[in-house]
Amino acid sequence: MPVTIAQLQKWKQQKKPIAALTASDYAIAKLLDKAGIDMLLVGDSLAMVALGHKTTLPVTLEAMIHHAQAVGRGIENALLIVDMPFLSYQVSTEEALRSAGRIFKETDAKGIKLEGGYPDMVATIRKLVQAGMPVMGHVGLTPQSVHRIGYRVQGSTPDTAEEILHQAKALVEAGIFALLLENIPAELAAKITDLIPVPTIGIGAGKECDGQILVTHDVLGLSDWQPPFAKKYTNLQETITEAVKQYCQDVRNQ
Ligand code: KIV
Ligand code: NA
Repeated sequence: MPVTIAQLQKWKQQKKPIAALTASDYAIAKLLDKAGIDMLLVGDSLAMVALGHKTTLPVTLEAMIHHAQAVGRGIENALLIVDMPFLSYQVSTEEALRSAGRIFKETDAKGIKLEGGYPDMVATIRKLVQAGMPVMGHVGLTPQSVHRIGYRVQGSTPDTAEEILHQAKALVEAGIFALLLENIPAELAAKITDLIPVPTIGIGAGKECDGQILVTHDVLGLSDWQPPFAKKYTNLQETITEAVKQYCQDVRNQ
């Protein structure tokens, strides 16, 4: 049965953890879907892991749509969520509406994700939701702000923790269906999870979130670098290198 946004809500109430991963192409998306993943995010981290950029900033809306279309073709059950890339939604609410609309018109996305919980972003998200587009929020470490905040843990002082909690509540009030919590202290993530009615999905935010997400390239051992909280479940770099060496040898020896 295809996973729906309503289902995520039920799972929060039932305390059934939500398992999410990122995807950027058809073949891997199909495997993750068949393996039973609940949610697939076409994350803008694909700028780094699939396209080789140093940050998420360079990826375009065009490229995100292209990848989302490929991932969509591989999915039968997982809920498909697509990240809005840097500068496709920050300039104005009008531009956000048009960019978001393209994602829903041109891909099978069931929801979109935008970074930030500051007042202007909350207002933009309210408009998107009113226009019929399900939005997932994203607070804590927001990688599109890397040049301002770095890749550090966010919310580790009482003031910054309070600010993130405030943003979470404002986003809920604007109508988000779920909230991604990235790189914040586990106690803060637990508190937010307890206080808001929509599911929280954590990455580097402890065990108490309603669900967990990781970058698939990290989980499969395909990344050059990965954060300490991202468990490597297999080492595909090794597997692929061995396979290709073998192939090269076979070709050269035939
Ligand atoms: O782009 C991404 O991979 C994300 C992560 C936080 C899951 O947004
Ligand atoms: Na992202």
